[in-house]
Amino acid sequence: MTQSQTENVGLIPWTVVILHHTMIIHMSISKDVKRITTHTLQEMKDAGEKISMLTAYDYSMARIIDEAGIDVILVGDSASNVMAGHETTLPITLDQMIYHASSVVRAVKRCLVVVDLPFGCYQGDSKKALNSAIRIMKESGAHAVKLEGGFQIIDSVARILKAGIPVMGHLGLTPQSIYKFGTYTVRAKEEMEADQLRKDALELQEVGCFAIVLEKIPSALGKQVSESLTIPSIGIGGGPDADGQVLVTHDMLGITKDFHPRFLRRYLELYDAMKDAVTDYISDVKSGEFPSSKEGY
Ligand code: KIV
Repeated sequence: MTQSQTENVGLIPWTVVILHHTMIIHMSISKDVKRITTHTLQEMKDAGEKISMLTAYDYSMARIIDEAGIDVILVGDSASNVMAGHETTLPITLDQMIYHASSVVRAVKRCLVVVDLPFGCYQGDSKKALNSAIRIMKESGAHAVKLEGGFQIIDSVARILKAGIPVMGHLGLTPQSIYKFGTYTVRAKEEMEADQLRKDALELQEVGCFAIVLEKIPSALGKQVSESLTIPSIGIGGGPDADGQVLVTHDMLGITKDFHPRFLRRYLELYDAMKDAVTDYISDVKSGEFPSSKEGY
């Protein structure tokens, strides 16, 4: 457990016994669960404590991740790839993001839930951006939204913030712009792009973002930007000096296959483990080994 987890979280459930007619009902209630807020993240940056963030798109996965003690769950538009099998993040809709986000929110007791505004819901139209963010907050119960881009979308960011909705920025490789970039390679290797990224980061901070994701940029630039900001940076391929790290959960658990960027550490190889389990099940069903007499009524 990290320092903030032990100090801030009273996760010990207490048992209440309610006598209802002749039945005794045991209810497990989490008392005094101190929720992670955007302010907690700022305190962590100020204290030099790293921030952990992972993606989730459904109730079951979000429950495991939240119970494990993550600081932030991102309902990323990577759901478009991971859950729906699209090649890019562009096709996912606002309604679909709200469906994923509300499933995650129902599972979460402690961590901060941030939701991506999907492509086409905020670019070039700050009123539309605000309406999209309001729909996410109202219909899913999430705590913040994330938008990709810098100066190009600053009006949208500012308008959402003015409505009291916390915004996380996202710079570097912004997958919603993949057709502009043409490739998923490292961004901001050239000084002109690096300089723009530095300016964008400061502008996003100035307008009121509570944190910024830095995706796939040189580690030295990640360090520079993180040190120049008073708000936390969260890296994904942004080097070890970001104030926090994020990975796509299905990648780090090895559920996705054939995706091996340098920044990805796989903590499990679940694709093969799950496939083996399914193969065993099929074989047991076919042979009549499952179910046994004990597995029936
Ligand atoms: O959609 C997503 O999962 C993301 C992370 C990769 C940062 O934006």
